[in-house]
Amino acid sequence: MTIPSPSALPPLPPLRIGEYTVPVPILQGGMGVRVSAHRLAAAVANEGGVGVIAAVALSLASKYYEKGRDYYRANVKALIDELQTARALSPDGIIGVNCMVAIRDFEAMVRTSVENGAQMIVSGAGLPLRLPEFATANPKTALIPIISSLRAAKLLAKRWHKLYKRLPDAMVFEDPNLAGGHLGVKNASQLFAREYDTEVVVPELAEWSRSEYGDEIPIVTAGGIWDRKDIDRAFSLGAKGVQMASRFICTFECDAHDQYKKAFIDAKEGDVVIVDSPAGLPGRALKTSFTNALLRGGEVANHCIATCLDACRCREEKETFCIALALHRAQQGDMENGLVFTGSNATRHTGLVHVRDIFQELLHGIPVQPVPIPG
Ligand SMILES: Cc1cc2nc3c(=O)[nH]c(=O)nc-3n(C[C@H](O)[C@H](O)[C@H](O)COP(=O)(O)O)c2cc1C
Repeated sequence: MTIPSPSALPPLPPLRIGEYTVPVPILQGGMGVRVSAHRLAAAVANEGGVGVIAAVALSLASKYYEKGRDYYRANVKALIDELQTARALSPDGIIGVNCMVAIRDFEAMVRTSVENGAQMIVSGAGLPLRLPEFATANPKTALIPIISSLRAAKLLAKRWHKLYKRLPDAMVFEDPNLAGGHLGVKNASQLFAREYDTEVVVPELAEWSRSEYGDEIPIVTAGGIWDRKDIDRAFSLGAKGVQMASRFICTFECDAHDQYKKAFIDAKEGDVVIVDSPAGLPGRALKTSFTNALLRGGEVANHCIATCLDACRCREEKETFCIALALHRAQQGDMENGLVFTGSNATRHTGLVHVRDIFQELLHGIPVQPVPIPG
């Protein structure tokens, strides 16, 4: 009788990011509003990846928020709660916070994260040119910009080095052709251009990091990573890690409502659409009543509830929709009126799984057994 090997797959190398060694080279992508909060982040961190809390509009479902008042102060308090709860659930894991440059309280979210024990800040939706300035409270906190081109990577590294004498501790390349949420191109017509492909940009970034910085800036790739084959492909292109978001949505630990997760399980081929976000960027989303109305030019909630974005077409031009409200409603299970961001892999979900099972599949080839959501 042969004893089965504990793993059918070769091990993945750990990922060095600044002062930290991430045992499994997987970052969980930040997912706002509260799709990745303390529960998902802690579960990923407990498996050896980096668990990431999305900082945007955290207060909306918290006890601290009163409509029309104290939104920013409430966000700070809600973020502190999220960090403390994640730490309690994962005392030894690596917990990060995703802070988008486009939000009005970007600086406050970074400062609060760093002061309250976040080990990493992942920052995109704009170039985080001033990030190091807001993160001085703890020089050990790793700073990880999200970029979508070699040009942006060069500009950022040069600027940080000149102004702050520091380099990014890693960089996440997000492929706009595959990723979820806001996409790093100016408008939808630029999507699917070959110049933004993982296959083109990751090798360029890896070569740049190697020749300019002796591999000190590990490249992490994001967008469309689902299984071990995708991870192995990313590594063969020169990535040292991957960031995965959509794969973690249909987990027991994901912080969104069950109806939110069910929308993914029920999604069919062709149910992924591109919408114009009030942030002035295209976004990839699941087809819902909300996106149907939006794409038809129908009525959707377009009154600003919280001044969440720095520049906002909804607030300033009365165009598009209130993104904080739409994302908040979806997370609460209102599928009629909510916006559901997704990566290109939306339709691959077949049921709920535990985060641990996803890691077992990715690391050891043990198949996951998804279970349906009742109702
Ligand atoms: C529901 C959802 C919400 C997201 N929210 C954010 C966010 O708040 N900040 C951010 O930088 N990226 C956000 N993203 C992008 C992810 O962090 C990630 O980089 C991207 O989706 C990776 O592609 P994948 O979903 O195919 O794995 C979001 C993605 C999804 C699916």
